[in-house]
Amino acid sequence: MFIGDWHWQEYDIVTSTNDISMELSSNPPASKYLITAKEQTAGRGRRGRSWQSLKGNLFASFTLQGNSNLLNILPFIFSLSLFDSIKDYAHQADIDIKLKWPNDVLINGCKVSGILLEKADNNYIICGIGVNLALSPQDIKTLYPTISLTECGINVKTHIFLETYVKHLDDYLAKCLTYGSNEILKCWLDNAHQIGEKITVRMENTFKEGLFAGLDTDGALLLSENGKIVRIYAGDVFIDGKNK
Ligand code: BTN
Repeated sequence: MFIGDWHWQEYDIVTSTNDISMELSSNPPASKYLITAKEQTAGRGRRGRSWQSLKGNLFASFTLQGNSNLLNILPFIFSLSLFDSIKDYAHQADIDIKLKWPNDVLINGCKVSGILLEKADNNYIICGIGVNLALSPQDIKTLYPTISLTECGINVKTHIFLETYVKHLDDYLAKCLTYGSNEILKCWLDNAHQIGEKITVRMENTFKEGLFAGLDTDGALLLSENGKIVRIYAGDVFIDGKNK
């Protein structure tokens, strides 16, 4: 089965769509392949966290070949595609949608999705996306407050949303090829938290506080810390230092 030019396999239940994609990368079914599942029993999040996979939400992993330059820009491409897809359905809903570094989409300041990038065999890169279409985790303590599209009054079927997503994803991949990654970073910045906003970045063992100063050409977050620009490659960002 294909969706756009992505070779697509859908499962009822898997541990994680990223796990299946990883196994397939040693003998890939196509140069671009997509794995989706109705349920995940061991969904994985960024930085070793788990991803609560509630039934009715979207779990999808896109696998494509690329070098480290593509790897740097993919978080922005995947989150922008999600941003545009949600916008497509948000016309009647009174919601504020924003991007947050590196690849989160926030609705009214709450996390609606997650993206996990992993390197696989044969220079393949797996981009796993989870979108709270129907439900958001309420019963457990999450790092950020969460929200679902249903809670915003947006009701869209998983497959319809996926088709919209693939359309935007292919458009952004083509845009990156034609105009380069700076154009993608520019689009991302246009829809993200504001430059000059106070943020806290939580890293492995430490916090850094400062003002968001934009993105470096390789996608690193630029933080102005007491007037000095610091580059950050991995961390959790809290706007206004909330929830740290
Ligand atoms: C995050 O921590 O924000 C990233 C979460 C990524 C979750 C998705 S769901 C589909 C794919 N399979 C996984 O196990 N994780 C990703």
